[in-house]
Amino acid sequence: MKTVVITGVTRGLGRAMAEEFVRRGHAVSGCGRSAAIGELRERLGKSHNFDLVDVSSNAQVEGWAKHVLGLHGAPDLLLNNAAVINRNAPLWKVPAEEFDQVIDVNIKGVVNVIRHFLPGMIERGRGVIVNFSSGWGRSTDAEVAPYCATKWAIEGLTLALAQELPAGMAAVPLNPGVIKTDMLLSCFGGSASAYPAPEQWARRAVPFLLEIGPKHNGQSLTAP
Ligand SMILES: NC(=O)c1ccc[n+]([C@@H]2O[C@H](COP(=O)([O-])OP(=O)(O)OC[C@H]3O[C@@H](n4cnc5c(N)ncnc54)[C@H](OP(=O)(O)O)[C@@H]3O)[C@@H](O)[C@H]2O)c1
Repeated sequence: MKTVVITGVTRGLGRAMAEEFVRRGHAVSGCGRSAAIGELRERLGKSHNFDLVDVSSNAQVEGWAKHVLGLHGAPDLLLNNAAVINRNAPLWKVPAEEFDQVIDVNIKGVVNVIRHFLPGMIERGRGVIVNFSSGWGRSTDAEVAPYCATKWAIEGLTLALAQELPAGMAAVPLNPGVIKTDMLLSCFGGSASAYPAPEQWARRAVPFLLEIGPKHNGQSLTAP
């Protein structure tokens, strides 16, 4: 049984991973900003833990990490999954507040989580950090420049972090593939329906995530 922390469990990949880890008998702590957290808590909450947390708030993440570390100790697997995408638009037409939001959640949010969970993992001398990247962390397209900027940042910061970790641990950026979620609907529109559902993806991705270990440290991975 592994202890798994997942950000952004209210929808999409985060939710599907949470359900699949629970189904396989692992202990899950998850967060998100919307009411679905209450439903997850009701249904799965007994040996798991779901909290309302905005990862872009360092103070909220600090409180959440204290709570989770107190309950389950340092996680075996820390999945920085929560992210947002800008509404499709050329870069110069993206409103300042929207650009800030994408940076705040996708980059600063990931670092907030690392800041408050990683020291406990280092103390324990083991654990794996998976930062969700994207195909758009390794290539680009028009109208998603803010999102691309954050996912390229995730690749860079994760590979640098990997060079700082003590032996026995790992940090990897992960491209999950293309999956039919709210985020994909936003950027792909109607053609999103051609892609697999998150639950189908999670059945393949979760065993893959459970196999990531120190030998993968610093590798840019792609989910099967
Ligand atoms: N779907 C794809 O094809 C695809 C492709 C490449 C990469 N990815 C990456 O995979 C990850 C999951 O994407 P997805 O498609 O599942 O997206 P999604 O359906 O839009 O779900 C995003 C999740 O993140 C949470 N979230 C957003 N902002 C948050 C914040 N400030 N604090 C806490 N939680 C927050 C959302 O919950 P609340 O709104 O309740 O906070 C939601 O649970 C992301 O990192 C994304 O960039 C996805």
